[in-house]
Amino acid sequence: MTKYVFPEGFWWGSAASATQTEGTKLFKDETIWDKWFEEEPNRFFDGVGPYQTSDFYHKFEEDIKLMKETGHNSFRLSISWARLMDQDTNEVNDEAVQFYNRVINGLKENHIEPFVNLYHFDMPFKKQQQGGFESLEVVDRYVDYAMTCFELFGDRVKYWFTFNEPIVPVEGGYLYDFHYPNIIDAKRGFQVAFNTVLANAQVIKAYKENGYDGKIGIILNLSPSYPRSENEADVKAAEIADLFFNRSFLDPVTKGQYPQDLVDILKKHELVPTYTEEHLNTINQYTVDLLGVNYYQPRRVKARDTVPNPNSPFFPEYYFDNYEMPGRKMNPYRGWEIYPKGIYDIMINLKENYHNIESFISENGMGVENEARFIEDGQINDTYRIDFVKSHLIWLNKAIEEGANCTGYHMWTFMDNWSWMNAYKNRYGFVSVDIDTMKRTIKQSRKWFKEVSASNSLND
Ligand code: BG6
Repeated sequence: MTKYVFPEGFWWGSAASATQTEGTKLFKDETIWDKWFEEEPNRFFDGVGPYQTSDFYHKFEEDIKLMKETGHNSFRLSISWARLMDQDTNEVNDEAVQFYNRVINGLKENHIEPFVNLYHFDMPFKKQQQGGFESLEVVDRYVDYAMTCFELFGDRVKYWFTFNEPIVPVEGGYLYDFHYPNIIDAKRGFQVAFNTVLANAQVIKAYKENGYDGKIGIILNLSPSYPRSENEADVKAAEIADLFFNRSFLDPVTKGQYPQDLVDILKKHELVPTYTEEHLNTINQYTVDLLGVNYYQPRRVKARDTVPNPNSPFFPEYYFDNYEMPGRKMNPYRGWEIYPKGIYDIMINLKENYHNIESFISENGMGVENEARFIEDGQINDTYRIDFVKSHLIWLNKAIEEGANCTGYHMWTFMDNWSWMNAYKNRYGFVSVDIDTMKRTIKQSRKWFKEVSASNSLND
């Protein structure tokens, strides 16, 4: 038996987001998700929309107690911009402030460090009507909102995040049609990507200039890009996928600069966003203190077999094809590849190429369809989830042993929650939720996780 010990003070916990858990229309302006569900309910799994979520708004005390019992010393939530602020007047909503205060205080009283994310895919609809992050005016309003959060909660919250997976609204909203405003237009997409990087830097600037004493970072979904073979064309294809899907955010937010190779490709396709020198200086000067890394599965690519039509809309796949590697291990209940070593490769990459920036795993987990089939004696016996998390933690531990500056592990997610277009299709939690009664029932994995966090180690 091998024992894997984690560094003292390691963060153990899980992550969630406002839209996916709060679940009430009270005191809230519409977000793009409310609007999209109104417009096209059939695009959402089983026709379940954003109000039928886990009711954290009313049940947060019970949930925090369960977190404590699950051995959490930290938990990531997000604040909903549309709940906190009136989208016409910019006025703060008192009931929302009270709610977030009670959640933050409840976490702190239970010795659970609140990690607070400002934006998890939930653009207020009125801001989307003004162009969303295509508009610099909306970027400014986002900075105002962030400042309001710092003023209201910054005395107690010491870990802030500007965005969760900012590439997802770009991919989904402007390339691949799985996120509002679901249009196909790479030029506009790259403008949104640039403006999001700018918003990140401007919020960090505001945080630092106002002398707050916490840390501020961003959460990126990093999927290592592996080539089909060592053949030059395959390797090049993997490098380009890495440029688009990882480095397009990772480089500017940690190093203050875009990779030149990415800039060259965008120039070639006339996709360079509009910017000023001042924007570039801000991005250059205000980089993140720490990085949250969401890791679910790797990306496998190969060189393209055919040359795409240059007149068709631009997709990053202009430069590579996705590759279904024979024999790869798949999650049979979700369809994603399971490759625990990916977590090690990410951490070693951050160590070697990103000045060993402080990072933590901000999401990792195993989605399972129709998980009720695994109920035994009234409890979901999710041994597959224990195996999944364990195998990833072992590789993470190896990276830490080799010097990676990783300070924590958060699982996605605490309790089963509503997941955008997939609604409740894939369950990820330590705690299952009956979506009709909102009753919580713990799963087997929760007991195991408690032992790991309590001992700060695991055995294999
Ligand atoms: C993550 C997102 O990438 O994936 C979460 O940050 C999301 O918001 C999670 O819920 C799981 O996605 P899915 O589609 O498997 O339910």
